[in-house]
Amino acid sequence: MRLLSQGAEAEIYTIRFIGNKVAAKVRGRKKYRVEELDTELREGRTRREARCMERAHRAGVPVPRLVACSRFTLYFEILEGVVLKDLESIPEGVPREIGRVLAKLHDAGMIHGDFTTANLMLAENGLNIIDFGLSEITKSVEGRAIDLLLIKRSLGKGYPSLEQSYVKSCSEGDVVVSKLKEIEKRGRYQIRTIT
Ligand SMILES: Nc1ncnc2c1ncn2[C@@H]1O[C@H](COP(=O)(O)OP(=O)(O)O)[C@@H](O)[C@H]1O
Ligand SMILES: [Mg+2]
Repeated sequence: MRLLSQGAEAEIYTIRFIGNKVAAKVRGRKKYRVEELDTELREGRTRREARCMERAHRAGVPVPRLVACSRFTLYFEILEGVVLKDLESIPEGVPREIGRVLAKLHDAGMIHGDFTTANLMLAENGLNIIDFGLSEITKSVEGRAIDLLLIKRSLGKGYPSLEQSYVKSCSEGDVVVSKLKEIEKRGRYQIRTIT
């Protein structure tokens, strides 16, 4: 068992599972939280992440394949690739691809909830969305607009072509972009932080 990543909310290990190397995303106990709330959060987020990964996969959104799931741990396919945030520059064509996969996710009736370059991986099969821990099954236009807002802030200059391909691929893209503009005008949106 090797530690792949130590996040604020979970640790990811590589393990052997029925002969294959897979990732185990473990939500461990957080001592600073009241135990009851802690259990509820870890269990709820694990269940939500599993459900959303499966739903996204069924809709044709590129995500790591889920292998198994227990109360506080998800087991999924390891992608050979790199997180976009770690790249010095974003390769040509990638912003357009992000727009397309986000449109597909939203059209599948869900939002990501933490849609930044830290949660997108460029792998052998192309762009993949990871980390569904804050995802929700909802058709909320505001929720969709916040996904766009987060990627706009984290991507920077590649954003216009992302938005263009999002609007082209998404059934309600125009409505979402109008909502995004409205949120930006309000100028009060605070990025959600991990509890
Ligand atoms: N399927 C995967 N294959 C390879 N590396 C992964 C995979 N999923 C996550 N990682 C690595 O682990 C890191 C944290 O994963 P993530 O699911 O975003 O957890 P956190 O909730 O801690 O942000 C990612 O930035 C990436 O480097
Ligand atoms: Mg993450």
